[in-house]
Amino acid sequence: MSDFLREVIEGLEANDKYLLSKYFYNSEGDRLFQQIMQLDEYYLSRAEAEILKEQSPQICAHLPKQGFRLAELGAGDGTKTRYLLEAALDAKKEFSYHPIDISSNALEIISTNLNHWLPELEFEPMADEYFSALSRLAQMDDKALCVLFLGSNIGNFRRDNVDVFMSHLHQSLKPRDHLLLGIDLKKDPNKILAAYNDSMGITAAFNFNILRRINDELGGQFDLSKFRHYNNYDPHSGESRSYLLSLETQDIYIEKAGRSFHFDRHEAIHTETSRKYSPRDLQQLAEKHGFKIEQRFSDSQNFYEDQLWIRL
Ligand SMILES: C[S@@+](CC[C@H](N)C(=O)[O-])C[C@H]1O[C@@H](n2cnc3c(N)ncnc32)[C@H](O)[C@@H]1O
Repeated sequence: MSDFLREVIEGLEANDKYLLSKYFYNSEGDRLFQQIMQLDEYYLSRAEAEILKEQSPQICAHLPKQGFRLAELGAGDGTKTRYLLEAALDAKKEFSYHPIDISSNALEIISTNLNHWLPELEFEPMADEYFSALSRLAQMDDKALCVLFLGSNIGNFRRDNVDVFMSHLHQSLKPRDHLLLGIDLKKDPNKILAAYNDSMGITAAFNFNILRRINDELGGQFDLSKFRHYNNYDPHSGESRSYLLSLETQDIYIEKAGRSFHFDRHEAIHTETSRKYSPRDLQQLAEKHGFKIEQRFSDSQNFYEDQLWIRL
């Protein structure tokens, strides 16, 4: 049984139904995410692009001069990372770049982009989950590692999984290795709500893509018109959560699962969490997991930060 099928069954059998957000990303999901990054309401990518465009030389000044690996978790299309890579090449750093992504489509896009933008860059894409790729890198040699985890991707973990992720990351790194963490900050809740419920319905289409994938790849019989996109935000936990709500009582057959799944009217499938952090939350997270915050870089509106952490 594929991981996708197993995890879909587990999620739809749960009392509070869920589907894992990593399954948004196939070629259609990657295409929709690129559209989301262009939306007026989706301030996150613009804020992070501004930081990297204007402050990459300062970020690079903290990195070793030579012999290190720059590994990016969930690299996407590389539009923002390009600024950092350019600054590192301009500073004559000697390094190799390893974009890691479970979407081989995303890796094809970033490879084409990098060959075009930075032909002199040494890079090796890795189509893998975050930690199996990192442990492969650690086994290669003892070069220093700088891990990039941008796009506020850390916010996509469920609360308990953030700790699992951080301790795993701590184990994968050596003392003095770096982490550049891009994080969306807690802010006006209305600003956040609009980012995940845009007027053109692109975020909704992205959310629905997970059902489309189940239909296409697992023989699911979801009728998308019988669900609706719903998002909320809790300013205490900082969690923005996306759901798909069943508009009626229905049983949905999934061929590869060989069975149907029951939905009550208004029953929700949780599809994505995008957690926002305060600077204090981040300080606590770093301390708890054996990292020191070396430097914080923020955009002109203080919506977002890229923080450079050092593994202790
Ligand atoms: C929201 S996109 C962000 C892309 C990029 N970092 C940015 O900031 O624009 C998340 C990316 O992470 C990848 N991804 C999600 N979960 C992953 C996992 N567990 N292992 C590897 N890649 C993953 C997805 O395929 C997608 O390309």
